Amino acid sequence: MRVLVTGGAGYIGSHTLLELTAQGHEVCVLDNYSNATPEVLTRVRSLSNGIIHDFIGDVRDTAKLDEVMQDFVPEAVIHFAGLKAVGESTEKPLLYYDVNVSGTLTLLRAMERAGCNRIIFSSSATVYGEPVYLPYDEAHPTNPTSVYGRSKLMAEQILTDWAATSPERTAVLLRYFNPVGAHASAQIGEDPTGVPDNLMPFIAQVAVGKRDALQVFGNDYDTPDGTGRRDYIHVVDLARAHVAALNYAQGATGARPFNIGTGQSYSVREMVAAFERACGKPIATKQVGRRAGDIAAMQADSSRANAELDWVATHDLDAMTASTWAWQSKNPDGYKGS
Ligand code: WQD
Repeated sequence: MRVLVTGGAGYIGSHTLLELTAQGHEVCVLDNYSNATPEVLTRVRSLSNGIIHDFIGDVRDTAKLDEVMQDFVPEAVIHFAGLKAVGESTEKPLLYYDVNVSGTLTLLRAMERAGCNRIIFSSSATVYGEPVYLPYDEAHPTNPTSVYGRSKLMAEQILTDWAATSPERTAVLLRYFNPVGAHASAQIGEDPTGVPDNLMPFIAQVAVGKRDALQVFGNDYDTPDGTGRRDYIHVVDLARAHVAALNYAQGATGARPFNIGTGQSYSVREMVAAFERACGKPIATKQVGRRAGDIAAMQADSSRANAELDWVATHDLDAMTASTWAWQSKNPDGYKGS
């Protein structure tokens, strides 16, 4: 199929391009490079013998979207383009609603004009908010506690109402847990701008000597070792979930959410120990208080995706840490060094 990938130069997008082209799909990237660099596509192209078109532009730019739709004529869209920093979303709510919600609306209008009826949406487990029960299944109440989470839930609701207007339309809503890791080539990986918000890239930067120590946010949670627990999923497993969702979308109608996680969670302390095994050196840590907005534990029930998408995560914790270390140690300054 011809697949338009918005935000395709990003961390998850770039890994998904490789999985799509490996399955013979023709892809076109639309990215404004606000959180990525063109070097990513250079490396993806060197790793793939697939067809990868690309346009530079913002998903809120109607004229650019129409140009892409007329030129590439996508049969489906995978929509990654968006902002995802929870803390920043609280400081800049209008920017997050503009990009994540209005951007989705603008994209859907352009899809309507072009007669494109299938979309896979990059959503997030943060739409659930504080757990009423764990593991989260898709029936869990959605009560996001951040602007970022609310923007993702609003976009899901728009997609759901759009998909309900025609039996031709499908919206697959992928609720990611915690993406980590890197492609086996160590040529592409996570390259956050500035100080990493997320645990794994911060640990990796400590290991490579870019940061002095990891601050451990809280050790008084109701968890076995007191530190936060998360359901980490290897980015290649996550990328493969998008290809599975694309295949599912060809025979489905309406909107449907799917949890994309492993069903296994690890604490901060366990992640540090796993990374020390991967890199062969100690990771300095500093115990500090809880981070505002954090919850104790998250864990996915992904049985719906396992059954209906015929997808299951296959990479274990050591694969997550080893691939992260391989990427970080080969690219200590991420893509900037290239
Ligand atoms: C994981 C654990 C922290 C950093 C967020 C978004 C989510 C998704 C992934 C976009 C927690 C602890 C972290 C550090 C630490 N993003 N931690 N020191 O907050 O679960 O999820 O990123 O889709 O939507 O909400 O991920 O990696 O920030 O934190 O102790 O320097 O590591 O307290 O327990 P989080 P995270």
